[in-house]
Amino acid sequence: MPKEPASSRDAEIILGIDFGTSYSSAAALINGEIQWVLDRGDAMIPSVVHLPAKGTPEVGMTAHMRLATHPNTTVQSVKRLLGRRLEDREVRLLDAGVGYQIVPGPRRMAALKIGGQTYACEQVASSVLSYLRDLAEKRFGRRIRKVIIAVPADSEPSYVSALRRAARISHLELLQVIPEPIAGALSLGLHGAPCDRRVAVCDFGGGTFDATLIEQKGVQFTPFACHGDTLLGGDDFDEILAEEVANSVQRRCGFNMRNDVVRWHHLRMRCESAKRILSSEEEAYLRMPAAYVEQGQQRNIDLLLDRKWVEAKWQPLIERMRNVLARLLCSSRWAPSEVEEVILIGGTSLIPMVRRNIAEFFEREQVTSNDYANVAVAYGATLQTAGHLAISTQLPSLTVAS
Ligand SMILES: Nc1ncnc2c1ncn2[C@@H]1O[C@H](COP(=O)(O)OP(=O)(O)OP(=O)(O)O)[C@@H](O)[C@H]1O
Ligand SMILES: [Mg+2]
Repeated sequence: MPKEPASSRDAEIILGIDFGTSYSSAAALINGEIQWVLDRGDAMIPSVVHLPAKGTPEVGMTAHMRLATHPNTTVQSVKRLLGRRLEDREVRLLDAGVGYQIVPGPRRMAALKIGGQTYACEQVASSVLSYLRDLAEKRFGRRIRKVIIAVPADSEPSYVSALRRAARISHLELLQVIPEPIAGALSLGLHGAPCDRRVAVCDFGGGTFDATLIEQKGVQFTPFACHGDTLLGGDDFDEILAEEVANSVQRRCGFNMRNDVVRWHHLRMRCESAKRILSSEEEAYLRMPAAYVEQGQQRNIDLLLDRKWVEAKWQPLIERMRNVLARLLCSSRWAPSEVEEVILIGGTSLIPMVRRNIAEFFEREQVTSNDYANVAVAYGATLQTAGHLAISTQLPSLTVAS
């Protein structure tokens, strides 16, 4: 059990949290440094909850493994449902692809029916928040009761209220919410350079692509236009690779990997790993033992993927991304050259093809980003905790120390 902190104010820890659709991350400012919460050494913690019939829920990396073996009792993307009514478009779209039932809860809010039990989405979201808190308490050796959580720029009030209830279930006080694009801007030190300018923040995550225009006045940031594709994310890049591989297996021997939920899930996980490698390398191996059966024999997949080949397959996703950017500028009546700073955050923005196309769209050589784009939002939320701790921070540079 972590010890109570000393009563001095600066011993208090506040967690800054990015509660993401596919991954969450959290950090705290301790002695003027950002310290990350890690799950098996990784700062990107799957927002996945496994709800067994008996016992406590499993969250994070462990729950992520259950997606293949227990698809009917494992929940991912609960963020999409939080604060939404059963009849909302997002809810209906998600309902088509999950192994459990989405049912009406109190006030017709979406709830989950899993193994004969009904769970409010707040409960499931609170399992993720509690998990982050527990990992943080273990790592930092202090009790944590307060959090700042980033929320999408266009969040409905019902989402924020539901998030607040989720925090309360976890015995956490939600001190403040911060729009995700603003957290991303803070993480890149934009408030360290007070000026008046127009900034575009492109957040390409696991399940969504959001582009926000922000007006910066001094150190104040105000989002004023936001467009997005809630069905476009890093998962689609994995899916396209998995489809390609599965099609080639099927053409070769007739075996359809999509019919086996475990194999299909594993293939997508291998494709995700290969995709990440291809962000920094020109080629990546995609290997999967016992991937399919041919003439009664288990066969392995052993492929060398080439970045150029993969990029050609991903092109339709890039077109969708560019459509969002075009809609954003059209609605604000800005020309690409009138945007003074373009910031990329979200894990999928680490894909070179994504970076290249966004830079090209805004007619510039360079965009503002770094190798930690996948944890930028949590970083910005954590910087925001400084105000509540009444400490001044020299902007630490963005690194994930293990
Ligand atoms: N190095 C990398 N190269 C390519 N993709 C990556 C890399 N690292 C992470 N990703 C991808 O980033 C996605 C997760 O990004 P992020 O954590 O920003 O999403 P999220 O916040 O959970 O989702 P959302 O913003 O849609 O709510 C995953 O699809 C993951 O595969
Ligand atoms: Mg995100």
